[in-house]
Amino acid sequence: MKKPFDQHADYQPATFKFKSKKKVEDILSRYPSGKERSAIMPLLDLAQRQVADEGAKAKKPYGGWIPRAAMDEIATIVGQPPIKVYEVATFYSMYNLAPVGKYLVQLCTTTPCWLCGSAQVVEAVEKFLKIHVGETTKDGLFTLVEVECLGACVNAPMIQVNDDYYEDLTAESVVQLLKDLKDGKKVSVGSQTGRKGSMALSGPTTLEDQAKKSGVA
Ligand code: FES
Repeated sequence: MKKPFDQHADYQPATFKFKSKKKVEDILSRYPSGKERSAIMPLLDLAQRQVADEGAKAKKPYGGWIPRAAMDEIATIVGQPPIKVYEVATFYSMYNLAPVGKYLVQLCTTTPCWLCGSAQVVEAVEKFLKIHVGETTKDGLFTLVEVECLGACVNAPMIQVNDDYYEDLTAESVVQLLKDLKDGKKVSVGSQTGRKGSMALSGPTTLEDQAKKSGVA
């Protein structure tokens, strides 16, 4: 998956501290003594979620991202040079190294999604939010990024917003989804047409008895 944005955040807070010492200790306790650097990835995730929690309450909201001061703090915690943390954070696309909107909208445009209409989905999203891919809305609510396959091609086209997948989208349903998020309404994750799991549009074609038993058909 490609790294979606410019890695250079204009704004960098001078310091960062984890709010929950317990959460940090819980993560460190998963790894044997001397292997603390294995905790770099979950600590980066914890930092990003802490920033997202703060951002959700801010007057102008923002989403989860990892300031350089947080990476330096993690390096201190795991006893490694900061470059070891930077290397990990800059490699994986789930770590945002620049501020993002409260809702990070990842638009999949890889071939299966494209064949099923992702171009129309992207067009509708850009038109509704009045921004282009790579930009953030002025109210701080949405950032748009284009990503490679997110592994839900069976229910293409799809997008990811923060931790959740929204599938079987159309130009109309994706706009409705964004409107509901903007209005703070509850949204249902997964298929937007009610399809269960990854069964065919016409319903299950194999393992029908099991599908009935599990209540998906
Ligand atoms: S191509 Fe979009 S999820 Fe795989």
